[in-house]
Amino acid sequence: MPTGSYRPLIPQHFIDELVARADLAQLVGERVPLRRRGRDFWGCCPFHDEKTPSFKVDANEHYFKCFGCGASGNAIGFLIEMDRLSFPEAVEALAAHLGMEVPHEGGEQDREAVQHLHDLRSVMARSAEWFRQQLQAENCEAVEYLRRRGVNREIAERFGLGFVPEAWDGLHRALGGSRKQDDLLVEAGMLVRKDDGRVYDRFRGRVMFPIRDRQGRTIAFGGRVMGDGEPKYLNSPESPLFHKSEEIYGLYEAKEADRRMERLLVVEGYMDVIALAQHGIPWSVATLGTALTEQHLRKLFRIVPEVIFSFDGDNAGRAAARKALEAAAPRMEEGLQARFLILPQGEDPDSLVRREGPAAFARRVQEALPFSEFIFEDARHGIDTGSLEGQAQVLSRVEKLARKVPNPMLSRLILQRVQEESGQRSPPQRPRALRQPQTPSAPPWPAASHAVRRPQPASSRHARTSMDLIAVRCLLHRPSLVTAWEGSPPPPDGTDARQLLIHLLEWLEEDSSRPHSWLIGRAAGVSPQLEALLKAQLDEGLLLPMEHLETEFLGILRKISAANSEQQKKSRRRALQEASRSRPLTREEMLELQELIRQLAGLNPETN
Ligand code: UTP
Ligand code: MN
Repeated sequence: MPTGSYRPLIPQHFIDELVARADLAQLVGERVPLRRRGRDFWGCCPFHDEKTPSFKVDANEHYFKCFGCGASGNAIGFLIEMDRLSFPEAVEALAAHLGMEVPHEGGEQDREAVQHLHDLRSVMARSAEWFRQQLQAENCEAVEYLRRRGVNREIAERFGLGFVPEAWDGLHRALGGSRKQDDLLVEAGMLVRKDDGRVYDRFRGRVMFPIRDRQGRTIAFGGRVMGDGEPKYLNSPESPLFHKSEEIYGLYEAKEADRRMERLLVVEGYMDVIALAQHGIPWSVATLGTALTEQHLRKLFRIVPEVIFSFDGDNAGRAAARKALEAAAPRMEEGLQARFLILPQGEDPDSLVRREGPAAFARRVQEALPFSEFIFEDARHGIDTGSLEGQAQVLSRVEKLARKVPNPMLSRLILQRVQEESGQRSPPQRPRALRQPQTPSAPPWPAASHAVRRPQPASSRHARTSMDLIAVRCLLHRPSLVTAWEGSPPPPDGTDARQLLIHLLEWLEEDSSRPHSWLIGRAAGVSPQLEALLKAQLDEGLLLPMEHLETEFLGILRKISAANSEQQKKSRRRALQEASRSRPLTREEMLELQELIRQLAGLNPETN
């Protein structure tokens, strides 16, 4: 029996054949204007901003290359980048484009399973088409309903909206009949089978919203009553095509509107997505009435680096926001951002964008709180922060979530702020007292954390906690770490923090048993600033669990060194580019430049 997670292997020879058969110039040309020059095609690169074409399609060799940003690949790679598909999705899309069936390894049984999925998809496509036709019928009540809600025809078409009249056998009569066909419609969730074996339409008298997969194929429906009936929205049940808790409404439509989108706004309802799209914010999507899961997030972050969540201001919205925050924490990897937007009570994006217009709405999105701020804001919500008990509750909530954040820097900075807010700035060895809350007019925690900044504590005012300083603290805690780092010391970058790190590495390498007093004396010999900075680090203590110290330390040094070599590559690239303006480059230099451009390319290689 076919199952949803069914993922047969695609044979390599088929992939090779696809790439060879694809007309790359045509495939690219459908998305990027190209002009023929000699045997190649040229255009402006779709993967970075440019005004003069440096993007080449070599149709004979079946690859594309951008000499500006270094992007290159074959037809599958192009679809992965351009349409932001996963590898299997890109293979399927390309095969469909060429009218080929993707064969799957594993023989007859697998072939049947693939055919079965194909049949289910076709039933869904025909249902969607039939619903669309019903919306065209004269005097259709749904047309009036959509008009009343301000949905225009173009948007209705873009989202494939339809209508199903109030009847028990509308769709059944249109598409069903044979036993095989009825079985498919039941399995797809379009018909319900009674105990006596008879079938009837699941959706009756509703406006129909097709839910599409990444390639635009309808996999389920949401149907809205036009009056007060229950439920307000009826959704397709789970099926081999549809896994409600993983699907995201509007992803395909958002991608169609802007293939290079950089962020996605996650809202709560179908109508929110549609209203936003109609008002010039096509980069919004919705979960399907379920709480946001980690799976959703994984999917979203594979497509864009920034996701903004919007929630209604009521209690349910608050609860949903907390759930989203919890799902986001373990996904906060470096380079990714999640932000949170709580809407005014009684409003949703649909009502807001219509009432105050797209510019005002976009401004709200702009001001959405970053993860690191919302984590505090959420923890404070509904808690009496005037009491020590309340404060303790807030901080322990934040701390618990921050520990799940995989980006070490972010996690550390949040934890550091927890420590600052609780007034625990003394080293962990010494006993410490909780700072008393001050006067009521100056609460210890500002309500809107993004608006009011707490002053930096004196000990860290010398410098923001950089990676260098964290490495310094690691070294002070366990001087023997010097031997773990086998690379050369990082180069000076003009900051005191880097200078301190370089000196410490040197002094401790000579003798790792040197006491702190000796180190302070040496630092004082270099400069008073360095002495102060070193003392401050001794005071700061360490937020890291001891067992991770070495991993952290080595990770930081590796990162600093990598940043350095990237700097060197960039300046070498600049030098070569400048040279090329005054003289022709040698062949070696050309190759070196191309290699540098490729290495420094902004494209993210891990699309899968
Ligand atoms: P809302 O009740 O907030 O609906 O549900 P909405 O999007 O504002 O709808 P309108 O404006 O009244 O038409 C948000 C989402 O929750 C799911 C749907 O996905 C809906 O879009 N939902 C809601 C259901 O699945 N079933 C329901 O009965 C209600
Ligand atoms: Mn609504």
